[in-house]
Order: sequence, then C-alpha cells, then structure tokens
Amino acid sequence: MSSGKTVNNSTLLSRDETVDSALRPLNFGDYIGQDRVKGNLRMMIEAAKKRTEPIDHLLFYGQAGLGKTTLAMIVAKEMNANIKVTSGPVLEKTGDLAAILSTLDEGDILFIDEAHRINRTIEEMLYPAMESRKLHLVIGKGPAARMMTLDLPQFTLIAATTRVNLLTSPLRSRFGGLFKLDYYNPVDIEKIIERSAKILGVSISPEAITILASASRFTPRIANRLLKRVRDLVEVSDRRVVDENAAHKVLSMFEIDELGLEEHDRKLLYTIIERFNGGPVGLGSISAALGEDRGTIEDVYEPYLLKIGLLSRTSQGRIATKEAYNHLKKDR
Ligand code: ADE
Repeated sequence: MSSGKTVNNSTLLSRDETVDSALRPLNFGDYIGQDRVKGNLRMMIEAAKKRTEPIDHLLFYGQAGLGKTTLAMIVAKEMNANIKVTSGPVLEKTGDLAAILSTLDEGDILFIDEAHRINRTIEEMLYPAMESRKLHLVIGKGPAARMMTLDLPQFTLIAATTRVNLLTSPLRSRFGGLFKLDYYNPVDIEKIIERSAKILGVSISPEAITILASASRFTPRIANRLLKRVRDLVEVSDRRVVDENAAHKVLSMFEIDELGLEEHDRKLLYTIIERFNGGPVGLGSISAALGEDRGTIEDVYEPYLLKIGLLSRTSQGRIATKEAYNHLKKDR
C-alpha cells in the first residue's frame, strides 16, 4: 500500500486515508456532537450569506482528532467557497504564504492547520492580510529593496491548532470567531462509531461499540481508527460480526487499555506514583523525569487524564488520584 508522499504533484493516499475521507461528515447534519460550536457557526454562516460577504476569520482549537479540519471543510461547503489547505510547518518562507495568498479568489477560504507552528515573519505577513486584505511584499534585497503592496480579494482565514496557548495574542485577536472543540460525550462517540460502521459495511455488536467508545478518549479520530482495526481483524479471521472479543483483542494488540490509555499515559502516571510518591509534584519535575517538554505534557498528555479523573492539578502540583491507583492496580 502507498505512503502519503507527493509524487508528480498528485498525492497518493493510503487505504486508511481514503477510508478517513469516506468517514468525514460533509455537512452539519451528518456531523455528530459539538452542538454549541455547530450552532454558532451556522448562525455566522447564515448572517454572512445574507450580507453576501465571506464569513469572518475563524480559529478552531482543541485536542487532535476532534474534527477541526472537518469543520473547516463543512464551513467551506456551506459558504459555497473554495478551500485551500496548508499548514504552519509547510510555510517556511514569506514567499510560500505570498504565493498562496496571491492565488486566492473572492470568497475563498484559506485553511492553515497547526497554526501554532507558523513562524513569526510569516505571522506578521498575515496581520494586514487578515485585517485589511493587504499583502506587503519586499522585492529585492539590501539598499535596492522595495516594498510593494497588493490588494487581496475578500477571503476567510480558518486556522486550527492543538496548542492555542502558543499563538501570539496579536494573531488570536484577529479572528472574528474562536471555537474550542471539546471532548465528545460517550453517547456521541457511540453514534459516530455506529455511523462509521455503517459506511464501512461492518456489522458490530452494541457491546463492541461500547468497548471501543470507552477506549476512544472521547475522540472521533481514535474511535474510527479502532473501528478500522477491528474491521481488519474480522476480515483476516473470517468472522462476520465485530463482537466484544474482537474489540478486546484489538485493544490488547495495540496496548490500549479499556480507558484508552496508551504507553505514554501510563508512564506519566507511574512516574508520579513511583518516583514522586503520588504527588503533589511540579510540572518541571515530571518533565525532567520523563525527558518530555513541559508544554507537551500540559497541552497534549494531561487533558485526557484530567478529564477522566486519573490526574488532578493542585496549587502544589500534580497528583495521581485514587482512581489512578485503582486503574493501575497500585497500592497507595
Ligand atoms: N467522523 C469523525 N468525526 C465525526 C463527527 N463529529 N460526526 C460524525 N462522524 C464523524
């Protein structure tokens, strides 16, 4: 099967990526969960359409896999707008952004994923583009350098990030709508698994849906990934239905426990319990013990553990809760 590498300007998609796009809801009606965000976006879209104007610049933030890109695609579709997609790390030089901005047409949407990884000079080029649709270019070098300003068409920037704290406040303040995507509730995750199973033509028992949903970290991308793996298992073992056994087997094959914890989550909790006597312990000490960046621990690892109550944050530091000890079968 292919990798996701670009060949001759056309992107070869792996089977998983093809399946992912089949599972992606294409309109608000099919998009399960995030009701408040959907409601506010619908209102903004309706108002913009009434004024025959592009929708204001939008920022979607939240944990990976919660549907930020999907929402951007839906906004584009509902606005009948073209969408051009790029990401923070892909934009290396100001010329990269200028090249994209200068090809935008009236009403187009520019989607920038991983916006926290946009470099500072490129970010500064975005400010006038967002605010007054101006593109300032420096032509030439040294004493002969000249500044040129191009007018841009009315466009919408939609940015997405998993690390909103890393965005500068001048950038944040230029969005007309900021939307935080939260973890999904368990009922919605079950509905998503059911919907995806139907699209993939997989028969799955209600018990198996519950097991996969509990291990999905309230995150659709993980739910769909687990579903794809149980589908593989069922295909190779000539079973017809995904049942509890198949669901448990896939979780153990991928070392995911029934709460969806993976190796790095367990390592974090074991570190607090075994090296720091269960806490309270400061983020700096945890970061040093794990050899992991503080920000990554705080923004990427901790939110799910806090959400399911295995970790708690106090003014003295992090604590592994009674539930964490029970879950890991450790004595206190
Ligand atoms: N697949 C991934 N995310 C989804 C969502 N929010 N609703 C329906 N299907 C999805």
